[in-house]
Amino acid sequence: MAEIELAGVSKSFGTVKVIDDLSLTVNDGEFVVFLGPSGSGKSTLLRMIAGLETIDGGALTIGGVRSEHLSPGQRGVAMVFQNYALYPHMSVRGNMSFGLRNVGFNKSEIETRVNAAAKILEMEELLHRKPSQLSGGQRQRVAIGRAIVKEPKAFLFDEPLSNLDASLRVRTRVELAELHHRMKATMVYVTHDQTEAMTLADRIVVLNDRKIEQIGTPMEVYLRPASRFVAGFVGSPGMNFMQADVDTSAKPVARIGNGAELKLDLEIPRSGSYELGIRPEGVHVASDGSAATKAKAGVVERLGERTLIYCTLTDGTELIAQDTGRSNVAPGDEIDLGFDPSAIHLFDQNGQAYHAT
Ligand SMILES: Nc1ncnc2c1ncn2[C@@H]1O[C@H](COP(=O)(O)OP(=O)(O)OP(=O)(O)O)[C@@H](O)[C@H]1O
Ligand SMILES: [Mg+2]
Repeated sequence: MAEIELAGVSKSFGTVKVIDDLSLTVNDGEFVVFLGPSGSGKSTLLRMIAGLETIDGGALTIGGVRSEHLSPGQRGVAMVFQNYALYPHMSVRGNMSFGLRNVGFNKSEIETRVNAAAKILEMEELLHRKPSQLSGGQRQRVAIGRAIVKEPKAFLFDEPLSNLDASLRVRTRVELAELHHRMKATMVYVTHDQTEAMTLADRIVVLNDRKIEQIGTPMEVYLRPASRFVAGFVGSPGMNFMQADVDTSAKPVARIGNGAELKLDLEIPRSGSYELGIRPEGVHVASDGSAATKAKAGVVERLGERTLIYCTLTDGTELIAQDTGRSNVAPGDEIDLGFDPSAIHLFDQNGQAYHAT
């Protein structure tokens, strides 16, 4: 297995720059997820590593070998796509050995590798089946098996689960996490699904608008988003945002649009106008006198273990609060809301983020 290093790489399609001077190191054995909105360049970056797109400038090193001029086959990485495109007339064994046969591996070596991959993927019983006799998740496992038998230096995945239905996606996600745990392989994984990113990644690379917005562990990205963009992109439902006037002359407070004052627990250099962000779990129905403001409840979403309340403040500000699963709030109720100071983030005009200490 190997480390992957991108140093100052760029990529344009015609006159349109899609990756701009990007640097990143994926450590040996690490599971790194590229997360970002559609068109942010995730697949392009992955394909640049794989050798399926040229690199305009900068350096790519895979396992200590300068690789930007090498062909895909010489780079020693294996890619798994969303469309796994198995050969329908071949068995699982045939599909998994095809690539090795093509490059002239001998029969016994192929046999050994396919059996080993089947064992890792727990597919030994399925080796004789045709793709049409497999479930979607099993087919995707065959595609992963095709990558494993190459014994690559690194695995590259481009949205491998997005063709699976919801429950299968969750199960296959867990299988992938187990696979990484067992193989300790370097894996780079592209998705726009933040649950996949949160659950699979050692580190998430948030991409937006040609560049990296943040690199961090899932919880760093969730709890300390480096920018307004990351704060809004990660988390479901998304973070609540509202304008606030911050006064730091005494104990810092933020006055929001309806005049309510929220206590802050962060170090902020100066008073002024900020964008305030707080996740729904930081806004609770306050029955204990800790309320900062009143709100009117709109839609009440019961998710079982918790309840989301879509509320409106008197000035029209909309936000989502979270209550317990057994919440007795009903649509139309006037409720008291409390804001957890440790859950408040501030963003200044330059996009600088401030988090609770
Ligand atoms: N072969 C190409 N020619 C021209 N433009 C391209 C080409 N491939 C990608 N692009 C453009 O590059 C940008 C990044 O595309 P890319 O496929 O990397 O995005 P992505 O983050 O993978 O998006 P998605 O989540 O939709 O898959 C987009 O604006 C896209 O239109
Ligand atoms: Mg893509």
